[in-house]
Amino acid sequence: MNQVSCNEVVSTIYQRVKALKEKGKPANYIPELAIVEPSKFGVHIAQLNDANFGIGDFQENFSIQSISKVLSLCLAYRILGEKIWKRVDVEPSGTKFNSLLQLESDNGIPRNPFINAGALVIVDILISELENPKEDVLNFVKSLCPSGNIDYSPKVKASEKSVGYRNFALANFLKSLGNLDNEPNDVLDLYFTICSLETDCETLSEIFLFMANDGIVPHSGEKVFSKSYSKRVNALMQTCGFYDESGEFAFRVGLPGKSGVGGGIVAIYPDKYSIAVWSPGLNAKGNSYKGMKFLEDFTTETEMSIF
Ligand code: DON
Repeated sequence: MNQVSCNEVVSTIYQRVKALKEKGKPANYIPELAIVEPSKFGVHIAQLNDANFGIGDFQENFSIQSISKVLSLCLAYRILGEKIWKRVDVEPSGTKFNSLLQLESDNGIPRNPFINAGALVIVDILISELENPKEDVLNFVKSLCPSGNIDYSPKVKASEKSVGYRNFALANFLKSLGNLDNEPNDVLDLYFTICSLETDCETLSEIFLFMANDGIVPHSGEKVFSKSYSKRVNALMQTCGFYDESGEFAFRVGLPGKSGVGGGIVAIYPDKYSIAVWSPGLNAKGNSYKGMKFLEDFTTETEMSIF
């Protein structure tokens, strides 16, 4: 697809989806997310061999929430290697992102690194392995994009921490089942910090471009990890990136991706592009309503999906 037609397709679908009456509801269990303007809508595509393109609110910062779980996993996987899969499994859970249900029968091994229980285990690994976990995670994420335009939001972190009862339950449960080396409160503090990362669609799509490029950061040439690690993380995004809606996302969009309750979604087309969309209204499963609709129309109309 040439650049002109890519920009045209993005613009046409953007206008069509923007006009839809149905837009879902912003997450209301984190007070700071509940007050975000629901009509915000941005899209940005970052390409390996073509120019980038953005439309709408693509340069406005939003809370990336669970999208950060892919970045924590990449850093922990790079440090620990294959040993990481002793602590967390690689199966879709088929349950909500913050479910406690399977942990007991699974003996404290979370089904995958993207459900909250799995992400808490990954954060526990980062605390054990990094000298200055907060700074080191942020520096890693900043190194993935040319602008470095990404930072923690103390406001969102405090907001989530004040009501994060389920995550407190999950961390304590994991500790009791022997799958946290550090204190639950320390793990939760770093978890809420990483979930509070804020950036815009432009930066988010640039950050994830290394996942379309076999693990190599395009602007710096730095190798985050091997092609085979990149394959595995993409496979996890494909099978587990949307929790109990992962099958639906694969069926409708057909790309590896990851959502967050801030209304962001990032999706990867290997060897070609990374695309980020943001619309705060969520569907019943907690994924961006318009974001999913946009991506479904985009891969259908461009016939660019991995299937
Ligand atoms: O732990 C939580 O509930 C949030 N910090 C993140 C959840 C999230 O983004 C799930 N994704 N769709």
